[in-house]
Amino acid sequence: MELQDIVALDQKYYMNTFGSRTPLMFEKGQGLGLTDCSGEVYQDFFAGIAVTNLGHHHPVFTADIKAQVEKVLHTSSLYYIENQAKLAQLLVEHSCADRAFFCSTGAEANEGAIKLAKIYFYKQGKPQKHEIITLKQSFHGRTLATVAATGQEKYQKPYQPLTPGFHHVPINDIEALEQAAGEQTAAIMLELVQGESGVHPVTKEYLQAVKQIADRYGALLIVDEVQTGMGRTGKLFAYEHYDVEPDIFTLAKALGNGVPIGALCAKQKVADAFAPGDHGTTFGGNPLATAAGCSVMKILQQEHLVENAAAMGTYFMEKLRQLQQNCADIVEVRGMGLMIGVELQDAQGAKVQQALLDAHYLTGCVAGKTLRILPPLIITKEDIDTFMDTLTDILTK
Ligand SMILES: Cc1ncc(COP(=O)(O)O)c(C=O)c1O
Repeated sequence: MELQDIVALDQKYYMNTFGSRTPLMFEKGQGLGLTDCSGEVYQDFFAGIAVTNLGHHHPVFTADIKAQVEKVLHTSSLYYIENQAKLAQLLVEHSCADRAFFCSTGAEANEGAIKLAKIYFYKQGKPQKHEIITLKQSFHGRTLATVAATGQEKYQKPYQPLTPGFHHVPINDIEALEQAAGEQTAAIMLELVQGESGVHPVTKEYLQAVKQIADRYGALLIVDEVQTGMGRTGKLFAYEHYDVEPDIFTLAKALGNGVPIGALCAKQKVADAFAPGDHGTTFGGNPLATAAGCSVMKILQQEHLVENAAAMGTYFMEKLRQLQQNCADIVEVRGMGLMIGVELQDAQGAKVQQALLDAHYLTGCVAGKTLRILPPLIITKEDIDTFMDTLTDILTK
């Protein structure tokens, strides 16, 4: 089918939640390259919004999920599932958590984390301890509870009244958190690098204060690693940069490298609050999704991709900061590992993103001003150098 026919079908039959999309349709991928339906190759510096960390059509990943497809796709969690048990073991052995639970998306993982925090106090006979503090400008998902958790009015307005019990405070403001927290606080939930609002990292001092304040009131610390997890920031999980261990953390996006899977990981005493029947899912942790997760964990280790994300992230940000010195249009370069934001003067982000697209580079842009760069973790110095040549041309001409 031609692209214009697909656009027509989409406009007639698909719910218009995405507005007018970039008029491209990709048919195949290899590494960083994505080939569109007219045969043009684009370099993917956005990884499908931080999902395809192994790049496209990674040979080992493709073989692993293909092998699973040929065996069985879905059985339900009424029965034991080898990959589910193995992936839980892998996540636990590589994190501060003692237990994992699988679902299918990031919002669902966060919804599960919120439920777990609430039931943890409910079962202690403290139902009044139900408030969750989250950050302004955060993004936690599109279900009703995660929309209420998300600290951005634009996502909340049409869905009033919101799920009660969420309180939002500004990022990196310890005083505001001191004022908001109290005996009613069940959990403080945050992303360590806010992605959707323009790549804003939480400081080490702030997260350590968050942990102290949570401990003072016996509240839980929930870290949303949906975007920062699976090596994106140069550690397997972003909390590892902070010398702080969350009680619960959530994953999705890159956990399945494109196969939908989310996870809820928790310390034993918290995980114990879920008894049989308190939570569940049909698809979560099915044989295919967990085969993808096991394969991702294996390839990250075998190819040292977390270490590569750290090294390439440092290199990329150094190059961007060098460019900033000769280019007044760049206001700030922010990020951690390969989660990078370049804030541009006078809302030029959208223009620069378009110019990059014209040069066959896929990136993201927030609020028209911050260019978002989230390449697959397999990226090399040569890939970065070529991108930087193009970006330099765009910004200096
Ligand atoms: C930090 C964070 N949490 C949660 C979500 C929601 O994930 P999903 O779209 O898989 O529900 C996202 C998606 O962008 C995210 O970036």
